[in-house]
Amino acid sequence: MKEVKIETILKVYNSLGELPNDIQQLMGFAIKARENAYAPYSKFKVGAAILLDNKEVVIGSNQENASYPSGLCAERTAIYYAGAKHPNAKILKMALTASSQNQVTDSPIPPCGACRQAISEYEIKQDQPIEIYFMGATGKVVKSNSLANLLPLGFDRSFL
Ligand code: THU
Repeated sequence: MKEVKIETILKVYNSLGELPNDIQQLMGFAIKARENAYAPYSKFKVGAAILLDNKEVVIGSNQENASYPSGLCAERTAIYYAGAKHPNAKILKMALTASSQNQVTDSPIPPCGACRQAISEYEIKQDQPIEIYFMGATGKVVKSNSLANLLPLGFDRSFL
């Protein structure tokens, strides 16, 4: 038997203002996208913005459905749109923000497990890390240097 330790290293910034201008700008796109989320059931709005290596920014927001499981998270809406519209572009950075009508979201809200799995596919496909920045509506911002860092023991194509 041996014990295996897997580490996740994150950078935590006190506010968006501490981040470089390009990230503030990308988060600005995510905030705008969040405001347009369609979340009549959960009242929990999420926005995502993706910066591609061709300088394009692709956005997404959560899209809910009366048949709940038919809805989709903001991160997957954005990354599938990026994959569909710019199939050959590399994804450099992703900014995420969430707000709730039920409580103040002033601490960083990480992407759900299903979205981490979806983003992981593209990180592996492009063989280049995707920087992930996530926050609530206000407050601290967390940076992860890659998706893999957020998904230890991920399932990937090597197992197929
Ligand atoms: N949601 C996202 O858009 N991203 C996540 O990472 C977590 C959850 C959405 C799905 C649903 O519309 C609402 O937030 C509540 O779960």
